[in-house]
Amino acid sequence: MDDRLISAEADDRDDSYEQSLRPQTLTQYIGQNKIKENLDIFIKAAKLRQETLDHVLLYGPPGLGKTTLATIIANEMGVNIRTTSGPAIERPGDLAAILTSLEPGDVLFIDEIHRLQRSIEEVLYPAMEDFCLDIVIGKGPSARSVRLDLPPFTLVGATTRAGSISAPLRDRFGVHGRLEYYNVAQLTDIVARTAEILDTEIEPQAAEEIGRRSRGTPRIANRLLRRVRDFAQVRGTGHIDLAMANESLQRLQVDRLGLDHIDHKLLKGIIERFRGGPVGLDTIAASIGEESTTIEDVYEPYLLQIGFLQRTPRGRIVTDLVYRHFNLEVPDN
Ligand code: ADE
Repeated sequence: MDDRLISAEADDRDDSYEQSLRPQTLTQYIGQNKIKENLDIFIKAAKLRQETLDHVLLYGPPGLGKTTLATIIANEMGVNIRTTSGPAIERPGDLAAILTSLEPGDVLFIDEIHRLQRSIEEVLYPAMEDFCLDIVIGKGPSARSVRLDLPPFTLVGATTRAGSISAPLRDRFGVHGRLEYYNVAQLTDIVARTAEILDTEIEPQAAEEIGRRSRGTPRIANRLLRRVRDFAQVRGTGHIDLAMANESLQRLQVDRLGLDHIDHKLLKGIIERFRGGPVGLDTIAASIGEESTTIEDVYEPYLLQIGFLQRTPRGRIVTDLVYRHFNLEVPDN
């Protein structure tokens, strides 16, 4: 989608790394304590009763560990995980094929579940509720419906847009977990953990600096760490201290809050062309040549989170924090 270093979206380069860096158990998983504690109880209870875990809906911004949690749920339950995504399931038959191939107890992980077509969602309802499929055989007046039993399974659905999930689908999940942005201390721990797995020496202050510039997002923290490690290996001794981290991050054009040139363009655009707002999303999008949905899903969540942008009924406004961040005079109004 975009090649920003600080995009929270996964790209192909992350995949192999993420697989090997990914925590395998709830104990290894840093942060998201509320979800973690609840899942721990629900998993233990399901195991005691020798039942499958109830269906789990995970929602929140990209890069916070929804896929990782799904994998951990399967590990902790001692079952296999099948992974797919909303857009990858094109026909009801695709979903039926996946469901009928599950082993009893398996986790089915559907990423971007808000993008499932309605006709496919309808196949999912009886599957989630009664572990069965209603298949229509034939056409016209002679068509009839046959019920097919499925093995019991746990659906783990993930979405970045909880509001886009239909109510009937949302209501069929027994467990709802909202992932929050990570704080700097948690990201520092994640960077230190990843560095250890990568066999890279890093000083605590350097890990903290990378954590601070990672927009609350482990995927970004791990990506920045790999790039800083490149600088440390080629320009230094391989050891990452604070000076090396700062210099590398400056070269990567990731500022002290983790903002990059696109954030700068967006924020300065609102200040310079629209006097700080309010300005409509579509107007901002057109003025910096991005899609509105990209701004809404990718750039904006973190800027809202750190209080740099506010949404008002009349559009987006930048806050005083932005003027101070850029050393600009804060306007009177
Ligand atoms: N790597 C990426 N996300 C992580 C997390 N939440 N805990 C530990 N390691 C991670």
